Amino acid sequence: KIMSKKIIAGNWKQNGTLKSSISLAKKVLQAVKKAKYTHEIIIIPPSIFLLPIRDLIHKSQIKLGAQNVSAFSDGAYTGEISGSMLKDSGVDYCLVGHSERRHIINEDESVFSSKVSRLIDSDIRVIYCFGETLNDYKNKKTKLIIKSQLKKLFLNNKNNLKKHPSKLILAYEPVWAIGTGLVPSPEELVSIFKYIRDTVNKLDKKYSPIKILYGGSVTPDNASSLMDTKHLDGLLIGGASLVAKKFIDICSTI
Ligand code: PGA
Repeated sequence: KIMSKKIIAGNWKQNGTLKSSISLAKKVLQAVKKAKYTHEIIIIPPSIFLLPIRDLIHKSQIKLGAQNVSAFSDGAYTGEISGSMLKDSGVDYCLVGHSERRHIINEDESVFSSKVSRLIDSDIRVIYCFGETLNDYKNKKTKLIIKSQLKKLFLNNKNNLKKHPSKLILAYEPVWAIGTGLVPSPEELVSIFKYIRDTVNKLDKKYSPIKILYGGSVTPDNASSLMDTKHLDGLLIGGASLVAKKFIDICSTI
């Protein structure tokens, strides 16, 4: 049996300066060169810092991710950055559907599905984030919400995803766990990850290679126990990815 690669992705969000971002990327690069991890390491800086960081990590094992993409192909869309521009700048992955885009920027599923299409057209892998809010969680609606989010994603992008299932990575991020220090219990995670896997497989057998990440308050202390969850293929890390030592510790511990 071929072991499939685990994924560790660091989402830097809207943080840092050019100088601090380059220094963070350099530290991660040094650690990765030394340790020769077998997993896929992805760093996701603010878009304006992608190019200098690409120049640093290019030829290394580290992959480059973008936090956002335009819903449109090239043209008169002031302020936007297209999938083909990201590709041209060496971007391998892009986030779509992150909780902050849903709840603060107010993007919806139709925007997300345009973005997924643009990215797949540009040959960039999509890290699609989804998950329930605290209210949904308290009202025991977690599975209902997950199912509806996944169904919309797969229905809206059916043709693309059936042709290119490996271009999609799912990231389950309970909104109440993002930046709060709270994480679901191991029992909750086992049950949710089984549910996500079953839901995805039921939609189409072709979707079985799709990887599923967990995100929300991942730290060096909880990373390895989170990784023990069945059907969980990696971690999406926010806050802890801004501190080189923490991110490297997570990469080393799993
Ligand atoms: P966090 O963020 O690790 O700071 O909780 C996770 C995310 O938003 O992807």
